[in-house]
Amino acid sequence: MKILITAGPTREPLDPVRYLTNRSSGKMGYALAAAAAHDGHQVLLVSGPTNLDVPDGVDFLPVETAADMYEAVESHIGRMDAAIFAAAVADYRPATAAEQKIKKSAATLTLELVKNPDILGSCRGEFGFTGFLVGFAAETENLASHARAKLEKKGCDLIVANDVSQPGIGFDSDRNQVLLVFPDRIESLPEDDKHHLAHRIIQLMDRRS
Ligand code: PMT
Repeated sequence: MKILITAGPTREPLDPVRYLTNRSSGKMGYALAAAAAHDGHQVLLVSGPTNLDVPDGVDFLPVETAADMYEAVESHIGRMDAAIFAAAVADYRPATAAEQKIKKSAATLTLELVKNPDILGSCRGEFGFTGFLVGFAAETENLASHARAKLEKKGCDLIVANDVSQPGIGFDSDRNQVLLVFPDRIESLPEDDKHHLAHRIIQLMDRRS
């Protein structure tokens, strides 16, 4: 299969020296890219800024902002058989990025944020993608019900849900514990190394797609 994988955080600039971001390290998405390439798939990894090495045999497209990631996905998803969205995309960005460094003056500073495009949510509609579509859900409560709502709203074949309030798993950790939410059933995988989990997810997609 040709598989597009998004990974890592996005950075949304406030001024030339500051940005809004999140705690994603890219480990989950890079592990999926490595596992897919290892199993003989052709992989395009679209990644926000991370400190990780690009896995062997993977095509790499680095991006910075959610808007960049949207453009990269829009340009390439048409020729893909499957797509996995493991990136932690900023839902909002500063309404304007100042051209010069913002100076300290008043005791408080109010930022105006505007909504970023939902990249995963654009796949079935705007991008006309008909391949196997996998989203992630990062939740802190009601994991299964929130994941099922995302599966239905975004037209996914699978949502990989992780509880990011649990210590030792999720953001910036080597391990994760996930619920696999399909349209017809839910499967819980035990806590494991992200590389082992990635292999299981890729093999499962192979069987389902
Ligand atoms: O990178 P690591 O440190 O290894 O951490 C892994 C992880 C916790 C980031 C990963 O396992 C994970 O949960 N990724 C999704 C994080 C997230 O943003 O989840 P969400 O529930 O807010 O978004 C739902 C889905 O929509 C995700 O597939 C996300 O990539 C996608 N999305 C969200 C917003 C947006 N504007 N565009 C999107 O495509």
